[in-house]
Amino acid sequence: MTMGLRPLDLANWLEVDHNRSTELELKQRLFTEKFETVVATNAEGDEASAELLACIEESLKEFHPEISYTIDKAEHPIVSASRLVQEDLCVLVKSDDWRLQAASVCFPSRWDLSTKIGTTLDAIHSPVPDYDAELGSPTNAFFDRLKPDRSFWRLNWTLLDNPTLHQPLSVRRSPSGDLDDWYFRVERQTLRQLPKTNANVFTIRNYVASAKTLRELDPEFGPNLLAALDSAPESMQRYKGWLGVADKLRSELS
Ligand code: HEM
Repeated sequence: MTMGLRPLDLANWLEVDHNRSTELELKQRLFTEKFETVVATNAEGDEASAELLACIEESLKEFHPEISYTIDKAEHPIVSASRLVQEDLCVLVKSDDWRLQAASVCFPSRWDLSTKIGTTLDAIHSPVPDYDAELGSPTNAFFDRLKPDRSFWRLNWTLLDNPTLHQPLSVRRSPSGDLDDWYFRVERQTLRQLPKTNANVFTIRNYVASAKTLRELDPEFGPNLLAALDSAPESMQRYKGWLGVADKLRSELS
């Protein structure tokens, strides 16, 4: 488990692809049907959310000028911002500590936004085994050092037993069936500081592909996945819902 942060050129902050309209329609449905599950805001995050919306508009204008849209000024700016991009958006504001004060998370990988709003990075990550010992201090220090002119990105991945983007459950199940029924889900996360409010923004963009497809594209996918599963400590395997998965995969590959 590492921070794994790499420098981000802000030209690549937001990724736009052929799934844009499908994913934005899904977001729209979630805002209508499950607003409380996918949006959480505190007044402390309002000003930064408005700045985030302005930054996203600027970025789209500069790097994706083909995109046109309208903004509903009656909506919270974190919702307006989220309607423009495939990313999920989290705004953290420094008070006694860095706290999550506004978020639109339509595509969580099995966590519950309502339990995280208003809390610190340490509290947000409390279910993650060894985060406290290995990543807590460096992540807090990183948040204090982040500057508007230096942004970063990192990747997280997991295996799930269905490709749905909206998975708000906090219970993690192991993928069932054989490798061909599993889905490989990668989160591309970015971190940047907004120049006016100095809030830190964390974006999460999800990519899902079936393990079957990945295996067909790359014969090394199965063996590489096995090596990654084998190298994860048991506590992490339990947390991610991977217990027993490596053995299943090993017997399939042999
Ligand atoms: C440098 C910054 C960060 C690092 C290194 C980091 C690292 C991690 C790691 C290692 C995990 C668990 C492993 C996994 O699922 O693959 C995790 C889970 C998570 N992270 Fe972060 N993270 C960072 C920033 C953030 C921020 C800013 C948020 C704000 C919302 C966040 C929200 C979460 C959540 C909600 C989970 C799932 C926790 C649960 O199971 O309830 N992370 N993070």
